[in-house]
Amino acid sequence: MAGPIKLDFSEKYDDQHAQKYLRKHQEGLNRRLSHWRDEQLARKALTLAGEPGLVLDLPCGAGRFWPLLAEKHNRVIIGADNSESMLKVAVQAQPADVVKRVQPLHTSAFDIALPDNAVDSIFCMRLLHHIGEAEHRLAILREFERVTRDSVIVSLWVDGNFKAWKRKRAEKRRRQEGYQNRFVLPAATVEKEFEQAGFRIQEYLDFLPFYAMWRVYVLRKR
Ligand SMILES: C[S@@+](CC[C@H](N)C(=O)[O-])C[C@H]1O[C@@H](n2cnc3c(N)ncnc32)[C@H](O)[C@@H]1O
Repeated sequence: MAGPIKLDFSEKYDDQHAQKYLRKHQEGLNRRLSHWRDEQLARKALTLAGEPGLVLDLPCGAGRFWPLLAEKHNRVIIGADNSESMLKVAVQAQPADVVKRVQPLHTSAFDIALPDNAVDSIFCMRLLHHIGEAEHRLAILREFERVTRDSVIVSLWVDGNFKAWKRKRAEKRRRQEGYQNRFVLPAATVEKEFEQAGFRIQEYLDFLPFYAMWRVYVLRKR
């Protein structure tokens, strides 16, 4: 039998890259503003999802959402990532009183090491825009459908905004065909995939409507 899917992009998160990723969201005014807006959307999405009590943060990366997830005092948080280096950095970098609330889990989104209906919500920030193949996205979404009891909060890049238009134009100019690491998806395509995997869309929240590509969807199991 074939093993779980492994993607090239997942391999880059070694010790060095993990440190770089931690700093990325802390440096410069633009980055900090962007993290602040990410947090605003995340808070709103969690409220829409009914303030879930048991949340799987997958992929947790450097744990930048752990303090926010811990704002609800009785919330149980599982911080999961495919990269041991990222998990290590997250545990070292986040405040100790937050880290003690988090159960770290080394696992892949394609094959989550948890039973069916194990959590109330899966909180999935900045993973799907790395997944270029529809069949890979579906594999992840179906795994989410198995593991969540109720909701999924997921962020990705969609088209239909200025930045997506600009990116497409730049790509055409460069006629770039080589290795691509991040993908803009037509909103209609990904919305169909959510349905196919067994979710309905409760709501979506745009980072900056008509301008930015980031969109957060709140999905509920059908
Ligand atoms: C762009 S980071 C996002 C991290 C975090 N959600 C955030 O927004 O700061 C992408 C993360 O996905 C993780 N990753 C890559 N492939 C994965 C997989 N198959 N399963 C779970 N995590 C994966 C990487 O290790 C990395 O930490």
